[in-house]
Amino acid sequence: MELVQPSAEYKDSFTEAVREYKEEAETEPTRSYRSLSLGDLETDFEAFVARERSHAEGKNQPQEYVPQTEFWLVDGGEYIGHVSVRQRLNEHLLQIGGHIGYDIRPSERGKGYGNKILKLALRKAKEMGIEKVRITCDVDNIASRKIIEKNGGVLDSEIPNPETGVGKLRYWIDVT
Ligand SMILES: CC(C)(COP(=O)(O)OP(=O)(O)OC[C@H]1O[C@@H](n2cnc3c(N)ncnc32)[C@H](O)[C@@H]1OP(=O)(O)O)[C@@H](O)C(=O)NCCC(=O)NCCS
Repeated sequence: MELVQPSAEYKDSFTEAVREYKEEAETEPTRSYRSLSLGDLETDFEAFVARERSHAEGKNQPQEYVPQTEFWLVDGGEYIGHVSVRQRLNEHLLQIGGHIGYDIRPSERGKGYGNKILKLALRKAKEMGIEKVRITCDVDNIASRKIIEKNGGVLDSEIPNPETGVGKLRYWIDVT
């Protein structure tokens, strides 16, 4: 099991995962992969991969986003999940979003991959020169709370998220 850069090698399992994301309820905090076009992925997966990789240079993403490096968790040659490591914080990330955002494809949840993806992403953050990782989750996201706390998260504060009305737990993880 490892974190890799997005790659066309994982086209089939990634596309299956996108089908799963699309079947999830709109309320799930699943990442933007839900809105990908299956037709576009089928016809030009290489272009999608290139766009994903270009986020590390701050390209092909909303203007207010900081550069973020995208990784895929793969196991046995199959796509399992996705994690973004933001290269620095802006005010919104400090307050709400944090350095790291992750998800596991629905059919692979509850098998320990969530714990693993954060563990591996913290190593990547350290390699990228981040010493104190800001990480947040909704107060009602029990699985994510457990993952963060198991990986050394120290609770800093809880604030109401003005965008959703749901409390946001804000942690720091020291990776020095
Ligand atoms: C949150 C998420 C990443 C968890 O991934 P996962 O692979 O199911 O997590 P794990 O199997 O490693 O489980 C982590 C812990 O949460 C617990 N858990 C898993 N699913 C749970 C659930 N639905 N309810 C309560 N606890 C749950 C596990 O028992 C485990 O606890 P333990 O370490 O004490 O044994 C996954 O549900 C997901 O992708 N959700 C949508 C995106 C998201 O919420 N991302 C995080 C944003 S902060």
